[in-house]
Amino acid sequence: MKKLMAANWKMYKTASEAAKTAAELHALVGDPGPDCEILVFPPFTAIPAVAGAFRGVAGFAVGGQDFYPAEEGAFTGEIAPGMLTDLGVAYGLTGHSERRHVLGESDEFVGRKTAFGLAAGLRIVLCVGEKIEERRAGQVEAVLLRQLEAGLKDVPRDVAPERLSVAYEPVWAIGTGEVAGPEDIVAAHAFLRKTLRGIFGDNANEMRLLYGGSVKPANAAAIVTLDNVDGVLVGGASLDAVSFHSIAKAGSAC
Ligand code: PGA
Repeated sequence: MKKLMAANWKMYKTASEAAKTAAELHALVGDPGPDCEILVFPPFTAIPAVAGAFRGVAGFAVGGQDFYPAEEGAFTGEIAPGMLTDLGVAYGLTGHSERRHVLGESDEFVGRKTAFGLAAGLRIVLCVGEKIEERRAGQVEAVLLRQLEAGLKDVPRDVAPERLSVAYEPVWAIGTGEVAGPEDIVAAHAFLRKTLRGIFGDNANEMRLLYGGSVKPANAAAIVTLDNVDGVLVGGASLDAVSFHSIAKAGSAC
């Protein structure tokens, strides 16, 4: 399975800053090779700049951090999947904890977006993960199950597995410098795989499971080589090309 090494730039970088970082990243990585895919989620305004830097380059893809589940319409401020694919965007992100917990997106809305985005031709990275109080209350699996069931409710059972990835991002590890321990990651990813198998059958064996939450150059190799970890989703440490390059190389996938 190809590792998916993804950068989430959140609300950072102007278009010109993003173009510069994307070009640096391409120059550093060169050809990522057959076992690795590099994916960058820039802010919407920087998508053309990053798509331009990666155009025609094998192994590099651009994603949209969000989209609205409709083809078009009176949805002020929103962006349709077709507007993203038109710019060369291949991936969409759904269920990120900042959208769930800062912007108030429900499990049901995340599910609508995931199914709509896939139907509109995007590949989707669906994020799931528990809050610290849920972990302390022993509810990790219950939360992951609820988020997966709602998030994948209307996804066709025969979806091509390379088009759907799930990122485990414990909320308490995002942007905090606190990484989940290897046992926690292995346990959560095994649970995700088992649950996905229950939904998609053997198809789930080829779906990529990413870990996200304070991934840095210093810890990336230890994470990427764990069982059922098929890539990472990186926020803060992806903003600098040199830092993200060393994460992408970790575990010698890229
Ligand atoms: P972080 O963010 O790497 O800064 O913890 C991860 C994410 O939000 O995807």
